[in-house]
Amino acid sequence: MSNVLKVALIGAKGQLGSDIASHFSQCDDRYQLTSLTRADIDITQPEAVHQVLTSQKFDVVINSAAYVRVDDCEAEVETAFNVNAIAALNIARACRQIEALCVYISTDYVFRGDRPDPYVESDIPEPINIYGTSKLTGEQLVRQTAPRSLILRISSVFGKAGASGKGGNFVETMIKKAKVGDPIKVVNDIFMSPTYTYDAARLLDELLQAGTTGIIHGANAGRCSWYEFAESVLSLANIAHPIEAIPSSAFPTKAVRPMNSAIASTRLDAITTLKMRSWQEAIAAYIQSR
Ligand SMILES: NC(=O)c1ccc[n+]([C@@H]2O[C@H](COP(=O)([O-])OP(=O)(O)OC[C@H]3O[C@@H](n4cnc5c(N)ncnc54)[C@H](OP(=O)(O)O)[C@@H]3O)[C@@H](O)[C@H]2O)c1
Repeated sequence: MSNVLKVALIGAKGQLGSDIASHFSQCDDRYQLTSLTRADIDITQPEAVHQVLTSQKFDVVINSAAYVRVDDCEAEVETAFNVNAIAALNIARACRQIEALCVYISTDYVFRGDRPDPYVESDIPEPINIYGTSKLTGEQLVRQTAPRSLILRISSVFGKAGASGKGGNFVETMIKKAKVGDPIKVVNDIFMSPTYTYDAARLLDELLQAGTTGIIHGANAGRCSWYEFAESVLSLANIAHPIEAIPSSAFPTKAVRPMNSAIASTRLDAITTLKMRSWQEAIAAYIQSR
C-alpha cells in the first residue's frame, strides 16, 4: 500500500503557505500535493469549500489561509470571524466527510501575554484582541468538528514570500528602512518567539509523518523583544544603523497586543528528533537565502 499522503493546501501563495508548497512538492515520496490559492477556493464560500475539498479523497487538508491584519480585525470583525473561524468550520466539515486530517495554522495571539514564561500547549488561551479571538474560535470549531485535527501555533512569522496580508515581513522592513537611512524605532517591551516559515514547513512535514494530532507550538526556539529582533536582523545582515528602543505606549495600535506571547513546546521532543533552531539561527538562515 502506498504511504504517499494526498494533501490539499489552502492559502498556498501566502507567506507560510508558499514555503509549505515548496517543501511538500519536493517530497513526492511522502506527499501528493494539491496547492490551492484564493483563485481556486475562496474559503468564505461554503459551497466552494465543500465542492473543492470533497472532489478528491484527500488524506490531509492544511488551512494556511487567514485574515492576518491584526489591527484591521478590530473594525472588520465580521471578516475576521468569516475567514478565521467560520471558514475553518466549513473546512473541518469537509474533512469530516472525507475522513481527512484537518490542519489549522494558529497563533500565539490566542494568549493573554501577561506572564513572564513562554506559553506551552497545555496553557489556557485567553485572547485580548479580535484577531486572537477569531483564531481561537477557529481552533475550537476545528477541534469540535473534525474527528482528527492538528492545530499548529506559530508566531511573528517571517518567510521568503512576506505576509501577503501585511505587505512584507518584519525582517525585510527593517533591512529596507536601514538601507535608505530611515530612522528606526522599535518597541522593546513586547516579547514573542519569531518563526521562520521554512522551519515551520519542515516541522509540519515531521508532524504529519508522526501522525500528530492536537495542539502543537512550532515557533523557533527562544524569545525576544521586537527591538532585539530588529537588532539581530541588522547585525546578521551586516548593516550598521541605529535603532531606537521605544515603549509600546509610544506606539499606539488599534489592537491591543499581548506583552509576552512567547511560545514553547512540551510535546515536540516526544514526537520528533527535529529541533526547532533558535530564532537567531533562523534569521541568519533567512538572510543567507535572500
Ligand atoms: N503572519 C504572522 O505573523 C503570523 C503569526 C502567527 C500565526 N500566523 C498564522 O499563520 C498562517 C499563515 O499566515 P501568513 O503569514 O502566511 O499570512 P499571509 O501571507 O497573509 O497568507 C494568508 C493567505 O490566505 C489567503 N486568504 C485570505 N483570505 C482568503 C479567502 N477568503 N480564501 C482563500 N484564501 C484566502 C491569502 O490570499 P490573498 O493573498 O489572495 O489575500 C494568503 O495567500 C495564518 O493562519 C496566520 O493566522 C501568522
